[in-house]
Amino acid sequence: MTQSFKLGSRVFHRVRCAPELGASLNSRGSDSTPRSLADIPGPSVPRFLAELFCKGGLSRLHELQVQGAARFGPVWSASFGTVRTVYVAAPALIERLLRQEGPRPERCSFSSWAEHRRRHRRACGLLTAEGGEWQRLRSRLAPLLLRPQAAAGYAGPLDDVVRDLVRRLRRQRGRSPGPPALVRDVAGEFYKFGLEGIAAVLLGSRLGCLQAEVPPDTETFIRAVGSVFVSTLLTMAMPSWLHRFVPGPWNRLCRDWDQMFAFAQQHVERAEAEIARRNQGKPGEDMPSGAHLTYFLFREKWPARSILGNVTELLLAGVDTVSNTLSWALYELSRHPEVQVALRSEITATLGPGSGAHPQAAALSQLPLLRAVIKEVLRLYPVVPGNSRVPDKDIQMGDYIIPKNTLVSLCHYATSRDPAHFPEPNSFRPARWLGQSPAPHPFASLPFGFGKRSCIGRRLAELELQMALAQILIHFEVLPEPGAPPVRPMTRTVLVPERSINLQFVDR
Ligand code: HEM
Repeated sequence: MTQSFKLGSRVFHRVRCAPELGASLNSRGSDSTPRSLADIPGPSVPRFLAELFCKGGLSRLHELQVQGAARFGPVWSASFGTVRTVYVAAPALIERLLRQEGPRPERCSFSSWAEHRRRHRRACGLLTAEGGEWQRLRSRLAPLLLRPQAAAGYAGPLDDVVRDLVRRLRRQRGRSPGPPALVRDVAGEFYKFGLEGIAAVLLGSRLGCLQAEVPPDTETFIRAVGSVFVSTLLTMAMPSWLHRFVPGPWNRLCRDWDQMFAFAQQHVERAEAEIARRNQGKPGEDMPSGAHLTYFLFREKWPARSILGNVTELLLAGVDTVSNTLSWALYELSRHPEVQVALRSEITATLGPGSGAHPQAAALSQLPLLRAVIKEVLRLYPVVPGNSRVPDKDIQMGDYIIPKNTLVSLCHYATSRDPAHFPEPNSFRPARWLGQSPAPHPFASLPFGFGKRSCIGRRLAELELQMALAQILIHFEVLPEPGAPPVRPMTRTVLVPERSINLQFVDR
């Protein structure tokens, strides 16, 4: 997903430091007068580049947010060439920025992905579209994904996928040295679950990710998703003119996206053929059961090109996000057995202890501790550690006026680990969300973003996480690998575990 430093972004080339505005404000010479962009503190260009490229900074972008806030305060800026980014790490300022947004908020986080679509004549999906095109897509996709009833309608296909995940975890135990119930690299397992789940919802297809042998084209897709996040960071950190001289990252990015498009195309065409077969002689008739997003899009007569662009981007968006959150959730629950016991009791009291219990999506969504655990996991490990906006009008941020068209980076990781908002910020304490202590600032932890451009997959993601956690805890006691050191997060466009998380899944 998005990241804080977008040095190669095309948008940067139209972002200006607005010297005129700065000069006019400065000339008033009063301390209480808002100051200009040029007055914002920040690292020197050499230091900024050294932090980014010499000290492994690209994988520590989330930590650089915390360091920046500690050194410069809630607003600072950094420049790269003629391009300046303003970093904001205070919930009240983030709130101010997001609440004043117009009808088409601009994020501009994936400029290199948008560039791929342009050069390879592909349609943009919701992640990469901007302006009127984004607004059109969003207004048509939101009712199909974001409405609670719409998302709950996908619980049936997801239920089958969750059951396969439980079977797969059983199979994967004890495959390598260590305790018999140990599963190595759970993120890899949940990654397959994430892909199988989102494909069931988008395409009505089962890909076979959770079978003993994963089909080769699915393996290729999985590799491409992993690799595209690495090349995204690199291509965004390079000005676009440099791609000609250092073509490796750009070529890899294009190869990965082409593979993902090819994979999605094959499945979209299969879904289209299936819909045509079912509707033969009865055009327009509703699909009896198991309707999926592609079905709705064809029914609404979307152009095939746009369906493909959106399905491909949704497939990507739905995999890493859910799988990493699930990995961190079980990692923390394995290290906090008292929370795990309490959560399991809450779940079994609702679903019943039997392994055949059918997950009731609506009931799960009401469980307070389950909701609190997911919130706390996303506070500690926000999949999208830094988001961005390009405001369409001048706005005041603290003491400064930020001119329109400036790239503003929202430091969500820094605010969600800030002790001023979350006592003991590095501890896993779901109880902080249960109303026992004063509620944190609503914009201090914002894992799904906010407003018109917020995550469209939020309901689906919450449903998947709730269903998977419920079934895993019903079937297993989850324990850490004996003697394993703590795992820290790192940035790979999204926030991921720095090394494999290995966990024991002991039968109940
Ligand atoms: C734990 C799971 C997830 C998290 C934490 C997450 C987080 C986010 C965030 C922070 C944004 C940017 C919001 C903003 O700019 O205000 C976003 C956008 C988006 N997400 Fe998610 N996401 C998750 C799961 C999903 C899933 C499962 C899907 C697929 C159905 C999805 C599809 C998207 C799309 C398409 C956008 C772009 C929306 C737009 O620009 O209109 N996400 N997500």
